[in-house]
Amino acid sequence: MTLQFSLDSAHPELADTACAVVGVYEHGVLSSAAARIDGAAQGALKRLIESGDLTAKAGVALPLFGLPGVKAPRVLVVGLGEQKTFDAARFQKISLEAARALKSLPVKSATSWLTALDVPGRDAAWRVRTAALAADHAAYKYTATLKPKADNGARNVLEHVAFIAGDDARDGLAQAAAIAKGVEFARELGNLPPNICTPAHIAAEAKKIADAHAGVTLEVLERADMEKLGMGALLGVARGSANPPKLIVLQWKGGKTDEKPYALVGKGVTFDSGGLSLKPGAGMEEMKFDMCGAAGVLGAFLAAAELKLPLNLVCVVPSVENMPDGNAYRPSDIVTSMSGITIEVLNTDAEGRLILCDALSYAQKFQPQAIVDAATLTGACVVALGKHASGLMSKHDDLAEQLLAAGERTLDRGWRLPLWDDYQTQLESGFADVANIGGKPAGAITAACFLARFAEGQRWAHLDIAGTAWEDGRKGLATGRPVPMLAQFLIDRCG
Ligand code: BES
Ligand code: MN
Ligand code: ZN
Repeated sequence: MTLQFSLDSAHPELADTACAVVGVYEHGVLSSAAARIDGAAQGALKRLIESGDLTAKAGVALPLFGLPGVKAPRVLVVGLGEQKTFDAARFQKISLEAARALKSLPVKSATSWLTALDVPGRDAAWRVRTAALAADHAAYKYTATLKPKADNGARNVLEHVAFIAGDDARDGLAQAAAIAKGVEFARELGNLPPNICTPAHIAAEAKKIADAHAGVTLEVLERADMEKLGMGALLGVARGSANPPKLIVLQWKGGKTDEKPYALVGKGVTFDSGGLSLKPGAGMEEMKFDMCGAAGVLGAFLAAAELKLPLNLVCVVPSVENMPDGNAYRPSDIVTSMSGITIEVLNTDAEGRLILCDALSYAQKFQPQAIVDAATLTGACVVALGKHASGLMSKHDDLAEQLLAAGERTLDRGWRLPLWDDYQTQLESGFADVANIGGKPAGAITAACFLARFAEGQRWAHLDIAGTAWEDGRKGLATGRPVPMLAQFLIDRCG
């Protein structure tokens, strides 16, 4: 369940809230909200700073109870770090930590004055949107496959946060609520185990989106439909799995009838064992996240439909499971894609590009004004950029700039890698038009170069989210990226 948000304009010492959240910079610099609390409480905050109890280190949150002169029973004092280096990234961090601290307090609602802080280069709408998204991110809890807890509901859990901001932040709040819904959708789908989150399950989730929004239509192509279309690459990958493949197509018609749609394409491999080119056992469990591209584009689509964006949008999600089997496709198999291009499969673990190439061909039926795909495509992208930036590859500078800007605004950042044709020679094959692997050097780029052959003449950009879609470790959760970037990109297209 997503958090509820609202705007407020009260003074912190007078506000009728279960918890007032205010910020303090290092070296005893109080934000104006903290200064008002301090004044009403006769120097209580200053004394805590002097005693060393309140260090104001960035993100450290100190809950105070029953401050005299302050109406709210609780004040959460959040450390902001150095004032002179306070920036957008820090604002996001302290917003996240504040929300984590709120989550551990027995409060259903809180009011935050953090959104009244000055953030260089960012306006109130940005502050509200960022704080709300951070709060929602922190409030997310995965419970789908846990035994239900008996005491659920006995304790107060955070449901509502009010942010201090003027009416100019209204749009920011509405956007945050929609993006948060999309992010939560993507996280939940990503986190589900692959025995539940099958291609059929993703199709069922897409149907929920269609059913919940007037103006959204859904079409699900089955194996037989894909055979008719000649999607030999996608179907090749699907051969080894007992779970049949689905090609999920959602459409939102918020724009004029004759307006060309934006197309989002997302890799939906519900489990990537590597197929006959089997992956090593250690870490294979992470390959349940190999459908996070699909989850991401569906989440962005959901956000766009929630906001009723005045544009046309089509979302194409090829979904399969990559498994070894007697019927599985093999290294050295040659498959014929929907485009007619033949592909030599030199490694069955390079399956993402095989399902995406047919999805890219299919997306062109809608004559899109731009296509953006998102995929957990290569380990090489993780080596290049780590967990912080998604790899962005496009031959279209304007489209790349728009996506980078959207990523910068939402702090869901991309970083561009080259997509020069110089790399194409690595994909040459003696037996087919193209090979599905390009060797060790520049693995993220050669994967994109493969896709580029199926996006000829299109305004197209590729996002490799292999490093950004989930967090490492046994308890690592799906992040919901790149929903914020893609949703912002679409919002920005609406002028
Ligand atoms: N889903 C993986 C990419 C991946 C690996 C994402 C690790 C996140 C973490 C993809 O299908 C894959 O297996 N790619 C291969 C390509 C290679 C065979 C050319 C890879 O990256 O090793
Ligand atoms: Mn693979
Ligand atoms: Zn994969």
